[in-house]
Amino acid sequence: MTQIRAMTEQDVPSVSRLIGESWRRTYSPIMGAETAARISDEDHTLQRIAAELTDTNKMSFVAERPDGSIAGYAMAKMNEAGDVMLDRLHIDQSEYGTGLAANISHAVFAAHSGIPSIALEVLEGNDRAMAFYRKHGFEVVDRRAASHGAEGHASLIMRKLLSRA
Ligand SMILES: CC(C)(COP(=O)(O)OP(=O)(O)OC[C@H]1O[C@@H](n2cnc3c(N)ncnc32)[C@H](O)[C@@H]1OP(=O)(O)O)[C@@H](O)C(=O)NCCC(=O)NCCS
Repeated sequence: MTQIRAMTEQDVPSVSRLIGESWRRTYSPIMGAETAARISDEDHTLQRIAAELTDTNKMSFVAERPDGSIAGYAMAKMNEAGDVMLDRLHIDQSEYGTGLAANISHAVFAAHSGIPSIALEVLEGNDRAMAFYRKHGFEVVDRRAASHGAEGHASLIMRKLLSRA
């Protein structure tokens, strides 16, 4: 069975590869292949992903298959005000529609029990992700210029109330 667990340093190369592939697949149709590759290559280096593991405001999870390969990844970060963002969620394309994305998201939600809500930014045009988030209780609360250096594109901010224990 695929296991959801905290990410470790050993996972950094697999996670970096997974994000790079996911970015190209998901964002090339929206922002163009060159821009998607450039932003991902800059933002998702081994060094940056490894550094995030020692950042106490960030929590990273992976889904590991029985053969040791990495099928999914999620990272949540807390800002100074204590607001939590689901900053990244990527699963291998072979896992789309399997429920794995829901399982890894629930690990993130459970790790933040006691916090009233969790937010995220989704690029306009990423319709599959938006449908996934709506299905899991997120609602659009704002629209703004996209971060991540995707100039000229808009993002939607979605938020979900977390249930209290
Ligand atoms: C976003 C992601 C984690 C969701 O996981 P998933 O397994 O694909 O999600 P699900 O299949 O459970 O849900 C997606 C829903 O969108 C629907 N969908 C698929 N393509 C769609 C489209 N083009 N427009 C609208 N809805 C679409 C699916 O039918 C499904 O709904 P259903 O369960 O009611 O049939 C995964 O697709 C992924 O890793 N995407 C690439 C990275 C990404 O975009 N991350 C989010 C960044 S904010």
